[in-house]
Amino acid sequence: MNRPKPEELRSIQFFSEMSSRDLRMVARFASTKIHGKGEFIIREGTVADTFYIIRTGKVAITKKFEEGKEMVLAMQYDGDFFGEMALLDRGPRSASAVALESTVLLEISRRDFGILLKKAPLLAYSMMRELSTRLRGTGTLLISELQRKNRELKQAYRETVNAVVNTLEARDPYTRGHTERVTAIAKSIAGSIAEEKELDEEDLFTIEIGALLHDVGKIGVPDAILQKPGPLLDAETREIQEHPATGKNILGNITYLEHALSCVLHHHERFDGQGYPEKIAGEMIPLPGRIISVADAFDAMTTDRPYRKKMDYQSALREIEINAGKQFDPEIVEAFGKLFRSGEIKRLLDELKQKTP
Ligand SMILES: [Fe+2]
Repeated sequence: MNRPKPEELRSIQFFSEMSSRDLRMVARFASTKIHGKGEFIIREGTVADTFYIIRTGKVAITKKFEEGKEMVLAMQYDGDFFGEMALLDRGPRSASAVALESTVLLEISRRDFGILLKKAPLLAYSMMRELSTRLRGTGTLLISELQRKNRELKQAYRETVNAVVNTLEARDPYTRGHTERVTAIAKSIAGSIAEEKELDEEDLFTIEIGALLHDVGKIGVPDAILQKPGPLLDAETREIQEHPATGKNILGNITYLEHALSCVLHHHERFDGQGYPEKIAGEMIPLPGRIISVADAFDAMTTDRPYRKKMDYQSALREIEINAGKQFDPEIVEAFGKLFRSGEIKRLLDELKQKTP
């Protein structure tokens, strides 16, 4: 075993302030080892039994993710440490460590640390405290990195879903921009009641994606019906009313969209139970469905359709308020009314108008 000389340890920041007596003690339990460039020091999944401090060199901490891609979690240099969880439990390693250049390490096995803990508990305790302080720093870094990745992923979802929706809307000039406006209004309503309804960031994202996709099932409705410039026959109405179920069937197998399915299936339910497809009433209708229902109705009334002219904003709001408790959830109508009167709804719609003239 290649034991370090006590005073050599002082060059490592971790031990720089330690008394000579403590250093002598540590030196008895540590060993020095050299790893060549590209050599694995730890392999993910193996049993943890050793903790490492880098005297000189460069080490990458990497982790395999589900797709099999190896991601670099952190880079460690002179004076840094890794493998510290080995001192706490015997579980499998949660990450790999690989030397990126010839690297000199100081190693302490769990067994030896156990002995140190008995012989010099204060020293062992101060080492553990130092470790946990630095570990917290690494954890914070890792969390902010994961949050950034999560944001990127959400943006990718949005863009993919938007591409699908744009293709869909291209079929029918009258619905151009409809989805985007419904989504903006639904997001705004959801945001305004988030605290009261205990909606977290994930719930809000689900509502956003659900609103974007709410009419995706219309892909199954023939053009002749969708674009008919007059009142619909009963059979045609029934065919249009298939779109929530069709949408659910289309998206049903896509795991990452499963939370958004309730928006697709339930945006035409009515609060009084007279809607479709399931004729559920009140709070039985999932909240995202109740929110999109209001946003969808407002936008439908305030845009031109083949068979009728648009209504002005005020009249549409009045129509929605008259139908609170019948077609719509009164709480959602109230939230929407507040946003409307504050000018927020008009601001959102004007903003979208400027984006796509
Ligand atoms: Fe719809």
